[in-house]
Amino acid sequence: MIAYRNLRVALLGAGSVGAQVATLLTEHHDELASRVGAGLDLIGIAVRDVDAPRTAPIDPALFTTDAMGLIESADIVIELMGGIEPARSYILHALNSGADVVTGNKALLAAHGPELQAAAEQVGAQVYYEAAVAGAIPIIRPLRESLAGDRVKRILGIVNGTTNFILDKMDVEGDTFENALAVATELGYAEADPTADIEGYDAAQKAAILARLAFHTEVPVEAVHREGITQITAAQVSQAQKAGYVVKLLAICERITDPASGVDGVSARVYPALIPRRHPLATVHGGKNAVFVEAEAAGDLMFYGAGAGGIETASAVLGDVVSAARRHVAGGPGVAETTHANLTILPIDSVSTRYQITLEVSDAPGVLARIASLFSEHGVSVEAVQQSIASVESGTSESSGTATLVIVTHVASERALSRTVADIADQQVVVRVESVLRVEGA
Ligand code: HSE
Repeated sequence: MIAYRNLRVALLGAGSVGAQVATLLTEHHDELASRVGAGLDLIGIAVRDVDAPRTAPIDPALFTTDAMGLIESADIVIELMGGIEPARSYILHALNSGADVVTGNKALLAAHGPELQAAAEQVGAQVYYEAAVAGAIPIIRPLRESLAGDRVKRILGIVNGTTNFILDKMDVEGDTFENALAVATELGYAEADPTADIEGYDAAQKAAILARLAFHTEVPVEAVHREGITQITAAQVSQAQKAGYVVKLLAICERITDPASGVDGVSARVYPALIPRRHPLATVHGGKNAVFVEAEAAGDLMFYGAGAGGIETASAVLGDVVSAARRHVAGGPGVAETTHANLTILPIDSVSTRYQITLEVSDAPGVLARIASLFSEHGVSVEAVQQSIASVESGTSESSGTATLVIVTHVASERALSRTVADIADQQVVVRVESVLRVEGA
């Protein structure tokens, strides 16, 4: 039996996710009411243009252009308009009017998360944002609640579907980056301007959100080291495949200690990396997302699924709406997110990982020994070296051509590795440094 009054839900935005949220709230009204213990009444949808075409059939009477008026009448405000303003002002207004907020706005959370959390805390309200990272995949709630008694050591996330689609196509079909991007655009994975995805900005916003939650520390998005996938070539992907690796764009959030200063802190970074093909993340194909969490007590956990899509992301939004509504029914203030740990955000130079360095070198006596000595001088330990002859002048055993050296290191510091590579690049016998890729998840 439902004894509590119906809760008033306001929706801001009716794009592909918003339209699905409106439909599910309406169609599943009775079932949701039974789960919550109160009816969830969609009282209106604020949009810029009430007559714009929608991707789902919605009662036109729900549309309004008066967002502020709608917000003031609501118990729960769902913000799915995207962008920074006016979304930020609307959310602050909702919180200050006593409403809980559900948002999928990763850009806003990455840039203004602390401000929104502080505003919520002040009035005992809560901001829910499961849809902001990895679409339908439950990852915010597991980090905030299920793992609240554990300590997260590291998160490795494939949190951008567009880049995963591109890299997977390069891996499976031997495609070039340019062709794979063209297909991603044709199929609607990539936007007309794909910069946010392929340059890693989207993944960096998600990394900032995950790192903050996992390590109870403010992580400004500007502090996330970011490299995109535009420099990844078909040759690198094919060479990785032969060596038992796959290239993935990873968002990595990690507790680390700077090897030089001994300072404990947090690293948040996004870059294309090699992962062993036996790693669970290597099985994430196409436009799918996955987040691999390494926790001290729980061990390894992986969360997998759709990282985008209207109805898929609407599932995450609805889950948050139900959580917010249950809290209204149960009473009590929202659960504040704490940044008590206040750890230092360490730069990329503080990171230690493994590396694969590909060099084109003169195929002459002593070259390998010279390169090996440079690794040794910088304290970088080599795990494996593979050499193939790239080109030789025909028919003589006295080769005067070049060879390709693929060197994989043991764990080394980024600082030591970059000094090693700089010294290698200066050698006369080195024609060029073809690539330096980090190896993760080993
Ligand atoms: N553009 C994102 C992606 C989806 O390709 O995964 C929303 O974050």
